[in-house]
Amino acid sequence: MQTITILGSTGSIGKNTIKVIEAHSDKFKAVALVAKSNTELLAKQAIALNAEFAVVSDKSLYNELKTKLSGSGVRVEAGDDAVIEAAKMQSDVVMSAIVGSSGLAPTMAALQRGSRVALANKECLVCAGNIMTDAAKKHGATIIPVDSEHSAIFQVFDFKNPENVEKIILTASGGPFRNMGIEQMRHATPAQAVAHPNWSMGAKISVDSATMMNKGLEVIEAFHLFPVAHSQIEVVVHPESVVHSLVEYIDGSVLAQLGTPDMCTPIALALAWPGRLALSHTKLNLAQIGQLTFKPVSKDRFPAVDLCYAALAKGGNIPAALSTANEVAVSAFLSGKIGFLDIVCVVEKTIAQIGHYEMTSIDNVIETIQDAKKIAADIILNSAS
Ligand SMILES: NC(=O)c1ccc[n+]([C@@H]2O[C@H](COP(=O)([O-])OP(=O)(O)OC[C@H]3O[C@@H](n4cnc5c(N)ncnc54)[C@H](OP(=O)(O)O)[C@@H]3O)[C@@H](O)[C@H]2O)c1
Repeated sequence: MQTITILGSTGSIGKNTIKVIEAHSDKFKAVALVAKSNTELLAKQAIALNAEFAVVSDKSLYNELKTKLSGSGVRVEAGDDAVIEAAKMQSDVVMSAIVGSSGLAPTMAALQRGSRVALANKECLVCAGNIMTDAAKKHGATIIPVDSEHSAIFQVFDFKNPENVEKIILTASGGPFRNMGIEQMRHATPAQAVAHPNWSMGAKISVDSATMMNKGLEVIEAFHLFPVAHSQIEVVVHPESVVHSLVEYIDGSVLAQLGTPDMCTPIALALAWPGRLALSHTKLNLAQIGQLTFKPVSKDRFPAVDLCYAALAKGGNIPAALSTANEVAVSAFLSGKIGFLDIVCVVEKTIAQIGHYEMTSIDNVIETIQDAKKIAADIILNSAS
């Protein structure tokens, strides 16, 4: 029986993780659950899974969660320290699925106790790639990617002979605006941006898919997960989201992982690796799909991808500043403060304004995050005035 901690249990990845655990309750048991504010669902999950520990990061909701779990035997805590406590608690796998930079500190805590980390949170590797992978090496922790693209590459990458890899190719659905002209994009609403054609995901990552910032962030993550140079990472638009990513070898062979767009597959793989779990969702029917298409990224309409390559090349604190500015800008877009095209402009201006320095510790990362948040917020404020 493998024990699981779910950081972000009430979100899209968290709920799918619970689906997988419930379908394999003979193999997995969730011991600790963490959310930000959705005490209703968190309490329901904790009772259904018979969890030991439930944490809500918003301290003001402690009493609310405590009341909902009274008599259940589930221990309740609240606040950021309690989130770290959950990550430090003994378990075999930590599902890191908190959205945004709030996921950094608890994921680091899980790595520092040598846990297997099923990594969905993007910001960990984008903001603190070397620091996280060094911590994993030092403490004997394992990072298994949950993102479907990285999970695909993880499954077909020859880690024993990395010199045989020519390049890795990340596929991108192109998001809901893949065929939209720039003028139409200028007036795109939050409701249109979160309506992803293929994947059902949280609001922030859905907007990131619409700007294609998501793919740029995945390029940065891929650099930290796999032993390749920046120039060996490519992106191709593949609207059907069936080929989840590919590895090209020096002899011209290209190996890919395919499947229906359902996050349960990479989640199950991250929990069971090197084993596999039977899943009952709809399987791929290639004859029914008929045709798979691929095309290059339109750099004019989706400048976020090149911006991420440039941030990766610059290194140091710049990817963390980019990711943070994007988080601030997406939130401003979702609350109607800025337009869709302004998201990437805010990110570009933030990384142009922030000083460039090398980062050696999580404290450096937190410093960059604070600086970038302030710069991005000021840019948004000034653009409104
Ligand atoms: N969804 C996907 O298919 C997908 C695919 C690949 C990668 N990812 C990545 O996985 C991460 C999660 O994505 P998602 O789509 O599942 O997001 P989501 O649906 O927005 O869920 C986010 C989860 O994090 C919790 N949370 C937010 N802030 C927190 C904080 N400060 N402390 C503790 N918990 C906090 C939320 O709790 P409340 O519900 O209480 O707010 C919720 O449980 C993101 O980094 C995303 O980029 C997602």
